[in-house]
Amino acid sequence: MKSKILEKLKGNEDFISGQEISKDFHMTRAAIWKYINILREEGYNIESVPSKGYRLVSLPDLLTYEEIREYLDTDFIGRNIHYFDSIDSTNKKAKEIALDEEEGTVLISEEQTDGKGRMGRDWVSPKGKGIWMTIILKPNIEPMKVPKLTLLGAAAVHKALDKMGIKTQIKWPNDILIAGKKICGILTEMSGELSMINYIIMGIGINVNLDEGDIPEELKDKASSLKISTGEEINRKELTANILNELEKLYISFKEEDNMDEVLKICRENSILLGEEVKIIRGNDIRLGKAIDIKEDGELLVKFEGDNIESIISGEVSLRGKDYSE
Ligand code: ATP
Ligand code: BTN
Repeated sequence: MKSKILEKLKGNEDFISGQEISKDFHMTRAAIWKYINILREEGYNIESVPSKGYRLVSLPDLLTYEEIREYLDTDFIGRNIHYFDSIDSTNKKAKEIALDEEEGTVLISEEQTDGKGRMGRDWVSPKGKGIWMTIILKPNIEPMKVPKLTLLGAAAVHKALDKMGIKTQIKWPNDILIAGKKICGILTEMSGELSMINYIIMGIGINVNLDEGDIPEELKDKASSLKISTGEEINRKELTANILNELEKLYISFKEEDNMDEVLKICRENSILLGEEVKIIRGNDIRLGKAIDIKEDGELLVKFEGDNIESIISGEVSLRGKDYSE
């Protein structure tokens, strides 16, 4: 009922009388008042004037389904959203619930108190400033193909940002960068057996409206936000929905036709690594090579000394530009 009242308010720029709402939804004025107050507590600014009724003045900057849906164009991704004001990590929570959830379920939190990046690293996730979300996927594919999904996620984020006029580069396999600084990371995890997947969770973290002060000193030369790089506040709701829209289209091609053409095209054309000298870091083993291609199976082809060419599987290495020290 709360969301019906909200829809009604959203559909009218002018005041709507309590009488009209009460007639439409067969409820008492007191009950309407109760829902209006709940909405106000959630951050909706609703004006009420005794002789006129109610008017929605402004919407909260929240990533709830209510707020995202007007931008959402999907069949199943993001149609079931678990929204949190605060959580330790959306990936962690997703693992707890994934078996019982439908494919396409999304967990979104305004902040994470223990967000995680690759290799168990901490992921800074301040409140209301980013998009910290996890998508639950259940494709019927071989576990070996799962790393392709990280590329698919990166392509979706790249495309969504491109649509909003923001040019980014992709650092295979899981980072999105602007001017060499990381603004998004993707952490794909799975539960499965040798030949079967139970579920995949794709965690996407985007530094949207973080200010300089939100980025810890030690990350400042590596990480940035969309707001810092473009100088503008970005609409988090629109961006969240755009990413889910692009993700669903690319995911359907992948799942139903095993088609990764567009994903590979986006990842290759916007790669920050291809053609460049790279450091391949495997624990203490550091090797210099040149990134030459992203293969059809999503692996990175690297040419080492002596023209020795190897495939690198995502997840097993860290990559740095040649001159980049940690
Ligand atoms: P690789 O996976 O190849 O080792 P990386 O993804 O860790 O690289 P870097 O550019 O080397 O990326 O470093 C960024 C570091 O900052 C990582 O350790 C990452 O976990 C950490 N970090 C924490 N929070 C954020 C954030 N919100 N945005 C960007 N980086 C963050
Ligand atoms: C990386 O680049 O290391 C991956 C970062 C992934 C961060 C996202 S934010 C939402 C989801 N929940 C987490 O704890 N991590 C991912």
